Parts: sequence; structure tokens; C-alpha cells
Amino acid sequence: MQGGDGVVIGLGGGGEEEQVVNPWEVSAKDGGKIDYDKLIEKFGCQRLDDSLIRRVERLTSRTAHVFLRRGVFFAHRDFNEILDVYEKGEKFYLYTGRGPSSEALHLGHLIPFMFTKYLQDAFKVPLVIQLTDDEKCMWKNLSVEESQRLARENAKDIIACGFDVTRTFIFSDFDYVGGAFYKNMVKVAKCVTFNKVVGIFGFTPEDHIGKISFPPVQAVPSFPSSFPHLFAGKDNLRCLIPCAIDQLVLGFIIKAVSTFVQLERFWNINLPLKDPYFRMTRDVAPRLGYQKPALIESSFFPALQGENGKMSASDPNSAIYVTDTAKDIKTKINKYAFSGGQDSIENHRKYGANLEVDIPIKYLGFFLEDDDELEHIRKEYGSGQMLTGEVKKRLIEVLTELVERHRKARAAVTDEMVDAFMAVRPLPYMFA
Ligand code: TRP
Repeated sequence: MQGGDGVVIGLGGGGEEEQVVNPWEVSAKDGGKIDYDKLIEKFGCQRLDDSLIRRVERLTSRTAHVFLRRGVFFAHRDFNEILDVYEKGEKFYLYTGRGPSSEALHLGHLIPFMFTKYLQDAFKVPLVIQLTDDEKCMWKNLSVEESQRLARENAKDIIACGFDVTRTFIFSDFDYVGGAFYKNMVKVAKCVTFNKVVGIFGFTPEDHIGKISFPPVQAVPSFPSSFPHLFAGKDNLRCLIPCAIDQLVLGFIIKAVSTFVQLERFWNINLPLKDPYFRMTRDVAPRLGYQKPALIESSFFPALQGENGKMSASDPNSAIYVTDTAKDIKTKINKYAFSGGQDSIENHRKYGANLEVDIPIKYLGFFLEDDDELEHIRKEYGSGQMLTGEVKKRLIEVLTELVERHRKARAAVTDEMVDAFMAVRPLPYMFA
């Protein structure tokens, strides 16, 4: 297995059955739950614990976002340092992004953006959003034009999450890379050897050189000097990156198994596990005299079919899309959402539902904001009083409302608004 900085962390040497943590297999060997504590230990990040959440609440004078309260964002690197500087009255900026590979986003894609929107509102800080149209052009074999078109389409979904145009700069790599941004890319590139990039991303000699030279593109938005129109003279401004350790399993494993191709071969195909980019970034930052970016990282968003299922673009029934109709949502939840309920009403009343594997409960944990109601449902369902159908009905309501709200917000996003968010311009009130 690759160790060190590699993304692939496989079976331990001691014959002990460890969970496999790589972009293609994320669950424990026995098909059980993902052990996030182990994941944290392996990746060397820190747990986002209660005391940190309380601190966020104190500093922002508002209740923590559901995604914090429920442990959706569960790990971090140096987030405490961001809070330290904020407490002293200094601000920071947020950086996140999306690789525009498809038209339709599913709920899992929205999670980091919903959370980033909360952070922007709560801390009143500027935000840069990178659309890596270049990345998807190279990895997904899309044409330059198609990647750019998708970037603009995705920008509309992102804007629909409610970002504040006076504090938000959205950019596409094809349009923005150059100038100060490019200078930083070259500085980063000079710090990373070919061996190192192979160790981190698993490139093979057959990969084209576009892929090998891509990592600096995703790295440098972490440095304020890449945005002179926003942060000139603020070279020490700290950067916080909300990022999903998510959507990285994809159809590959399924394909690999079904075609009897050895998994090892696929381990060498790089897919965007986001954290490696930023581990590389944090590695080189001090050598360039830059601040390391801090990270706040979310857990996996499960497929409808369950924790071991893969949300895959080739199977539209594995996820709820923001383009789904009320009818689609109803059918998908009723038909495909994996239930922890028992197989007969008698057994269900007797044993109750297994909440650990139940997808409706998991999804409600992400999207039902009322803590008391969620607790009530968990109790009633877990003890067998409530049936799967009733829980699903509540989930259908919650998701239909969410998707409908998103659809309306997106329909209201005009081309002029996209241009406004993407204009290279100063943001004079971004810290106000
Ligand atoms: N590579 C990411 C993707 O495929 C997009 C991205 C760019 C990103 N910069 C980021 C994601 C920063 C999180 C944080 O989706």
C-alpha cells in the first residue's frame, strides 16, 4: 500500500482487519459503518469536537449549523487557529470549489455549499469559489467549451445557495488563471517533485502531463496573493477551506469488479479526494513564506441504497438530484431508500428499526433542522412505534421542500448575476 502522504491507506500489516480508506473503498471490511475516529487518526486531522462547536457559537452569536451540530463536518486542520485570529478581531477568507463535470447536482454536492454559505453569513467573511473546468476537461475528457458551459451552469446552482455577491468571487480556471495566480502556481510547482506528486496522487507514467501539472491550480487559491484584486497587501490573511471527503467512490469500484480488473490498477487512477491537494498545499506553504490553509471537512453523504452504496452518475436512482420533481423524489425514497425497518410489522413492533443503517433517518439527520422532532422520530422509529413508511413520508416532505426552494432560487439566477459574481473586481465591503 502507499503510505505517507498517499491517499491510499489499506490493510494493516498485522493481519488485523482494518478499514480501507481510499477513494474507492471507504467502508469497513465487514460492510459496517465507517469509523470516523480511525479515519481522523489515519489522515492526521483533528476531530471537530463539542468545545470547538461551542466556541463557534460564542464567536458568531448564533446556533451552530445543523451540519456542525450533527457531526456532518467532523474533522479539521487548524480551524482552532482561524478562530483564534477571529477572536482577536482579524478576519479570514473562505475558499471552496467544484469540478463542473455534470449538469445536474445531487444533494451531496450541495452540502459543502450550504455549509459555506452559513460560514460566510456567520463570520461575515469573503469567499472565493473555484470552478475547475480545466480539471474536468482533462479528467472527464470533456471539450474545453463543454467544460466552460458546465462551469457556468453549475455557478447558477452555487449562486442559488444564497451567497452574498458583495463578498463572493466565483472564478473559472480557464478564465482566471494568469497573473499573480499563475506566479503562485509556478512557485508551488517548483516545490513538488514528480516523485512526490506520484506519492500523493498516484499518477502513472501513462497519465498525460496535464493531470500531473494540475495540483498547483487547486492549491493556490489557498493563498491570498493569488487574488490581488481582493487581498492586495493582505499576504498574511488566513484561509479556511470547507471541503467534502465525499463523492469520491464513484462507479469505479463497481466497474473494476464487474470487469475483473484488479483494484490496484484503479488505485493508480487519480480522482479528486480533495484533502490530498491541501495536504500538499500545507506542505509547501511555509517554504514559500505563506500561511497554511485551514480545513474543515465533511463526512460521506450516503447513497440512497445505503452506506455501502455508491452515488453514481450512471445510476440516477442512487441519489436525489436538485432537478428531481416531487414525484421523482417520492418514488426514489419509497422505492430505493435503504430501510432499517424489520421485514414484518410484528417484528418491527418487537425489535424496532436499526437506525444505524437506515437511510431515511440518515438523510433526516442532514436536512431536518428541528432537533426535537428528529429526536422524537429516532425514538419512536427505533422502538418500533413508528413505521418506515411514516419516516419516509416525513423525509419526502423535507426533501421536496428543499429541492423546490433550490429550483425556485436557481430559476431566479440570471446570466447578469452570474457575470456579476464572476467579474474580477474589488469587494469593498467584504469584511464589513
Ligand atoms: N476538485 C474539486 C472537485 O472536483 C473542485 C475544487 C476545487 C474544490 N477547489 C476546491 C473542492 C476547494 C473543495 C475545496 O469537485
